[in-house]
Amino acid sequence: MNLQEKVVEIRGLKKAFGDLEVLKGVDLDLYREENLVVLGKSGTGKSVLIKIMVGLLTQDSGSMSVFGKEVANLNKRKLNELRLKIGFSFQNSALYDSMTVRENLEFPLVRNEKNLTKKEINLRIEELLDAVGLPQTINQMPSELSGGQKKRIGVARTLILNPAIMLYDEPTAGLDPITCGDINNLILEVRERYKTSSIVITHDLTCAKQTGDRMAVLLDGQFGAVGTFDEVFPNADDERIKSFYDYNFINS
Ligand SMILES: Nc1ncnc2c1ncn2[C@@H]1O[C@H](COP(=O)(O)OP(=O)(O)OP(=O)(O)O)[C@@H](O)[C@H]1O
Ligand SMILES: [Mg+2]
Repeated sequence: MNLQEKVVEIRGLKKAFGDLEVLKGVDLDLYREENLVVLGKSGTGKSVLIKIMVGLLTQDSGSMSVFGKEVANLNKRKLNELRLKIGFSFQNSALYDSMTVRENLEFPLVRNEKNLTKKEINLRIEELLDAVGLPQTINQMPSELSGGQKKRIGVARTLILNPAIMLYDEPTAGLDPITCGDINNLILEVRERYKTSSIVITHDLTCAKQTGDRMAVLLDGQFGAVGTFDEVFPNADDERIKSFYDYNFINS
């Protein structure tokens, strides 16, 4: 991780929906090759934040700059270029059920990179399946995969366009603890292999601890605590952070 080079810089970001103020002045940086974990209760605005990052929503005020450019100011063509650099998997994003694993991976590739030969496409698909440890599933249908395997194929599909930034929205939700551990390792391997900078949104503190260089906890519209896991959690004074930690580590 290079703590000098910022790939994302968020300053004073505000976003409301009607009377509901979701983001109330958010500041956050993502550094090159960093895994940054974003935590926060349901409905605090984590998904809204990453939707602003890829231009699916626009902030009311403040700045969201990615690779040094203000996202809200990008024209359609520049926004599309930016989106290709960001591997964004929506929360619960499903694979196409009527397509094989190969076709699921091929689809974004042929749509976005029109000049590839059949051979190059196959090589790329095989490389990605190998990276996520599932080369044997290439001709299977999603219905034949386990929940953890589906997540891995989802990661492979997101990586196929070679993104510089990966956004993982709840990568371990609904998985058993052992499979969660596998996904956590995958997130670390992806960074090693593809030199990605990542934001990992999760409610799972084990995932946070294993994958994150830094934690950022969204509390009431702002980041209330930002730092390493040990800086933020074990001795937190803030009741809201403490209860998060106690719930994950004591009650579960
Ligand atoms: N397009 C929209 N229009 C109106 N309200 C919205 C819109 N998108 C999000 N919201 C509201 O903003 C708030 C934050 O939503 P968001 O999806 O970011 O939560 P979250 O932190 O990702 O929660 P979860 O952990 O459950 O995924 C919610 O109250 C949601 O209803
Ligand atoms: Mg969400």
